[in-house]
Amino acid sequence: MNMLRVCVIGLGNIGNLHADIYKADPLAELVGVCDKIPERAEQAGRRLGVPHFTDTKALLAALQPDVCSIATGGFEYSSDHYEPTMQALDAGCHVLGEKPISNDIRLAEEMVAFARHKNRCYAINLNHRFTPAARIAKQWQREGRIGALLFCNMALWIGRPEDLDSPYYHLKALNPHSVDIMRHFCGDVRRVQCFATKAPGRWMWSTASINVQFASGAVGHLTSSYDIKRAHAVERCEVAGVNGRFVIEDMWMRATLYPAETMVQQVYQNPVFGGFAGFRDTFRDRIHAFLQEVSDGVPPDRIDGSGADGLAAQKVIHAAIESLETGQIVEVT
Ligand SMILES: NC(=O)c1ccc[n+]([C@@H]2O[C@H](COP(=O)([O-])OP(=O)(O)OC[C@H]3O[C@@H](n4cnc5c(N)ncnc54)[C@H](O)[C@@H]3O)[C@@H](O)[C@H]2O)c1
Repeated sequence: MNMLRVCVIGLGNIGNLHADIYKADPLAELVGVCDKIPERAEQAGRRLGVPHFTDTKALLAALQPDVCSIATGGFEYSSDHYEPTMQALDAGCHVLGEKPISNDIRLAEEMVAFARHKNRCYAINLNHRFTPAARIAKQWQREGRIGALLFCNMALWIGRPEDLDSPYYHLKALNPHSVDIMRHFCGDVRRVQCFATKAPGRWMWSTASINVQFASGAVGHLTSSYDIKRAHAVERCEVAGVNGRFVIEDMWMRATLYPAETMVQQVYQNPVFGGFAGFRDTFRDRIHAFLQEVSDGVPPDRIDGSGADGLAAQKVIHAAIESLETGQIVEVT
């Protein structure tokens, strides 16, 4: 089978991580990298042994990759994704973009629509759903062991003590993961209400409490924070239905099923040998899943963790911000 020719645009820590993973993946051949900062481009090109560029269009014309990772950042950690994403799609590439899809909903909509127009696979690195524990929980759900949904309790917190470029940075940049996991298990969100607080000395909304109502009628809650100094655990997802309840702890560490009909629980525990060793493995799993889908010719509208999913998560976050500012419950449109 032909390997996919892959390029990475944006070479901070995250772009370099994508590039390392492509180099090690049997489905991919890393053929080039790009950063608008010449030193970053050169350093990564040398390290990885591939041609480097400072302009995405020049890279696309010279290398004609099948797949591009867009790992740029910018204002609210996402304003720079739009331009190279549109350029790569226009050149006929399949694109895996970093989260958040964009800090601007209008631009995110354009990106999703353009990918659809070009019939290219467009995915977002919603890596928290790409773990064995999350897959097992999804399997329990498919088997009917959760049943009609009742509630979802989600929490994600990390220590990020520095205030960044916008009061909404934490809400927009951290919560795409959590909202995606909530949507992954419970479907679309219809209504949102948000309270938030600024930890002492901070001007950014750094801790938030978000209530949601899903389209199914089930209810949900998200606690998110940048203020937890020592994060003994960072993420917890609990989903309950009439047949049972599961809890996923720290993305890949453990998933526990609490069936309604018995006191006997079922537990998946990340194995010592052959399990995930750390957060990087969520990237490895997610990137491989995208490469597999593209190699298998999965239709663009069937891609797991798609651009449309990234957009839907961001709309929930923007509704939460509107709720925070107005004190109202906000419909997600
Ligand atoms: N999925 C996750 O778990 C996860 C974790 C952390 C960060 N991220 C995301 O990864 C992205 C990158 O994060 P980072 O910390 O590496 O950011 P960074 O700012 O360190 O690096 C981004 C790089 O992109 C380059 N760039 C911007 N626009 C460009 C363009 N048009 N062409 C070429 N290069 C361009 C910048 O020069 C910079 O070097 C962010 O969107 C962030 O939200 C995701």
